[in-house]
Amino acid sequence: MIEHTHWLPVAAASQVGNAPLAVTLLGQAVVLWRDATGQAHAWPDRCPHRGARLSLGRCLGDRLECPYHGWQFDVAGRCVELPATPLTVIPASHHLAPHALQEAHGLVWVCLGEAARPLPAFEAETDGRLRKVLCGPYDVATSAPRIVENFLDMAHFGYVHDEWLGSRARPEVTIGEVQATDTGLQLRGARAWQPQSSLHATAPAQIEYAYEVTGPYSALLTKVPPKDAVALADYRESIALFICPVTPESSRVWFRQAMADFDTPESRFQAFQHTIFLQDQPVLESQVPKCLPLDPRAEAHSAADRASLAYRRFLQGSGITFGVC
Ligand code: FES
Ligand code: CO
Repeated sequence: MIEHTHWLPVAAASQVGNAPLAVTLLGQAVVLWRDATGQAHAWPDRCPHRGARLSLGRCLGDRLECPYHGWQFDVAGRCVELPATPLTVIPASHHLAPHALQEAHGLVWVCLGEAARPLPAFEAETDGRLRKVLCGPYDVATSAPRIVENFLDMAHFGYVHDEWLGSRARPEVTIGEVQATDTGLQLRGARAWQPQSSLHATAPAQIEYAYEVTGPYSALLTKVPPKDAVALADYRESIALFICPVTPESSRVWFRQAMADFDTPESRFQAFQHTIFLQDQPVLESQVPKCLPLDPRAEAHSAADRASLAYRRFLQGSGITFGVC
């Protein structure tokens, strides 16, 4: 499965501690835990003995203990303790195979197979002039591609986000230029009329948007408002959307925000993002089918859907099958 060659986010790094955490990625149960040195691990959440969930067990420094018969596994996934028969020589069939794991952008990323490409880029992450805040997770009852497409869609602003990211009174948007890239697509020169484009907006303004699809289930946007429409000098912000495809029809979503503001409390940024996403969520969850149809004849398209059509073509060309139909 091609999705197994991608790095995908599964949890906020801060959520993974020394109690095992159960997550689901691409329909597979995964257990996350952190050893005594602070290193995080991702394993199949299934004991090789009798299939019990390891996430119900305990972390013991540099080992994880299964809840059922107390078998212990070291950081490499080797079974190193059989408490009921301590003298037994432990065969390799008792070991488990860890998944590849990385921490980046405030999240833990897992690749279920052989990684074929780097994890989704977010250049703002290493820009010291921008503050980073993680928002989420949001558990959303739809496919990851429907959520990416919603993120790229500017024509819904005036309706779903009336008086915030758009206005019913001025629903026209400038779509901009779409270009295919290795990781998805780029959209430049898009514009929308936004009454409250960010926490710092002081006046409605025409906001310029740049979008990038950075992988099958991730995207980012950069907004630059005109100077006279924000309270802070040189204000700009980038928002990355990172999605864990949990099942074909359910997803866990994070937003990684980077903005030129180190003073406003984190919670105010999160509250703004929360307000916006709670406006999107019921509409997203109402869409039928939940999987994104890749056949261009399956849904009607307007000129405003250029980016979403390019995204669908990219998914098709990449051989993605999880969350599409
Ligand atoms: Fe895990 Fe038996 S099922 S130790
Ligand atoms: Co929206």
